Amino acid sequence: MAPSEEVIAGQAVYNRVVLAGYDVFVLGFSCQFVWRCPKRHMLANYQRNVGARHVEFGAGTAYFLDRCDFPSVPPELTLVDLNPTVLRVSAARVARHSPATVRADVLQPLPFDDGRLRAGHYDSVGANFLLHCLPGTWAEKGAVLDNAAAALRPGGRVFGSTILSSGVPVRAPARRLMKVYNARGIFHNADDDLAGLRWQLDQRFTDIEITVRGCVALFEATKPAPDLGQAD
Ligand SMILES: C[S@@+](CC[C@H](N)C(=O)[O-])C[C@H]1O[C@@H](n2cnc3c(N)ncnc32)[C@H](O)[C@@H]1O
Repeated sequence: MAPSEEVIAGQAVYNRVVLAGYDVFVLGFSCQFVWRCPKRHMLANYQRNVGARHVEFGAGTAYFLDRCDFPSVPPELTLVDLNPTVLRVSAARVARHSPATVRADVLQPLPFDDGRLRAGHYDSVGANFLLHCLPGTWAEKGAVLDNAAAALRPGGRVFGSTILSSGVPVRAPARRLMKVYNARGIFHNADDDLAGLRWQLDQRFTDIEITVRGCVALFEATKPAPDLGQAD
């Protein structure tokens, strides 16, 4: 199915100019002073959870992948994004790890049979600052977590962060910037609350940890082992 116009608009903003300023403006200034979650907390989330076989959903500038320590070097790294410019820029930044790239909409079932992505194979899936960019209800955004669960091996970790609009403290500057970004189709988080995020994680994962900093929820969770049923 072709991505909707909203989905296309949401990722199209990440052109070369925006990506050139992204680390400084979004990860530096906005994270610390508007969303009130300094980027070191996201880096710590990567450090805790990134595995030797890692898939990144919504790669952006690959800032955290460039800075985190993988448990083995080189890692097996796959970048998934709908935006071809993002894939070029992020893959170039972490070229030392020879990443594979997959152009796909994370709201739709990922192409696990195309030879570049393998179901049940990865130690970790990162989805940082992605969910608030995606249109839809929590149930619709849950498709991203279905893809993460499909990609992970049992015991693998999903982690990331997202900007919420309720259930967390949202100060006036954050509320104003969110309103602008939602009006422009850059964010779709007007209905994103903390309880909904927890519910979506609960449906698929165990060992769920959500840490709220400012209006950002940092999450981490484990894919459970398959339920083989009870022996008689
Ligand atoms: C705000 S950036 C986050 C980048 C990076 N993960 C970070 O933490 O800085 C969102 C990323 O998600 C990608 N993206 C947005 N919608 C997408 C979709 N439906 N499918 C795949 N990627 C998408 C964008 O192209 C962009 O690279």
